[in-house]
Amino acid sequence: MNTLLAQVTDTHIREPGQLAYGRLDTAPYLSAALGTLMRMPQKPDAVILTGDLTDFGRPGEYAHLAKLLASLNMPFYLMPGNHDDRDHLRDGFPNHGYLGTGEFIQFSIKVRDIRIVAIDTTEPGLSSGRLCAARLDWLRTELAADPATPTVVAMHHPPFKTLIGHMDEIGLLEGGGELESIIAAHPNVKRVICGHLHRTIYTGFAGIVASTAPSPAHQVCLDFGSGADSAWNLEPPGFHLHVWNSAGALLTHAIPIGQFEGPYPYL
Ligand SMILES: [Fe+2]
Repeated sequence: MNTLLAQVTDTHIREPGQLAYGRLDTAPYLSAALGTLMRMPQKPDAVILTGDLTDFGRPGEYAHLAKLLASLNMPFYLMPGNHDDRDHLRDGFPNHGYLGTGEFIQFSIKVRDIRIVAIDTTEPGLSSGRLCAARLDWLRTELAADPATPTVVAMHHPPFKTLIGHMDEIGLLEGGGELESIIAAHPNVKRVICGHLHRTIYTGFAGIVASTAPSPAHQVCLDFGSGADSAWNLEPPGFHLHVWNSAGALLTHAIPIGQFEGPYPYL
């Protein structure tokens, strides 16, 4: 039996009727993503949202997000990004006990045959991310507690440079090296999945694959130029489907959001 984990990230929900960046109503984009998720021929076992759930971390934004997610007919798990507020996130989802009550929002959950270990890279008031000693110690303990189950480590800020300069400036600025050592010491960690970049990116990290996923709404413009503007566009939105298959491999399908022509038979 396969385990299907959908990753939706950077939804940036605002209060009803409010536009992100003065331009973009992100709510219908999330609804379209949920529609695509629920039309998939094989229903995901769970969905993980890897941060930037809201645009400003306000209570009204989490209330709107909760209303939108209420239609999702599968378990979902929420992580904070740099646009979020831990306390308002917890208050907005009182039934999500895994969000805990500590300084950070970090949790481990089992989804069918795999384990997800979510670590909190956010720093209140900062766009950049950080893994301090306390968070890294927690990760060491969690991974040591189960050295056998295939594990996906989820985090908002990716632990690698992307070549998009303005995003690297607000990337994971501390703890990436230690993270790499910890993961390399745990061969049951099969993947590191991240948000923040609003694009699909893959790279090698600690001997495995690390990836970022696109947003269901807006994407970060692809420009490696040293003076590239911090800017977004409306390239096709999407999400990732991570599949742990019965042969013991983790593979990722990139799913475009929307309804498209077809299917047509090949014959
Ligand atoms: Fe974001």
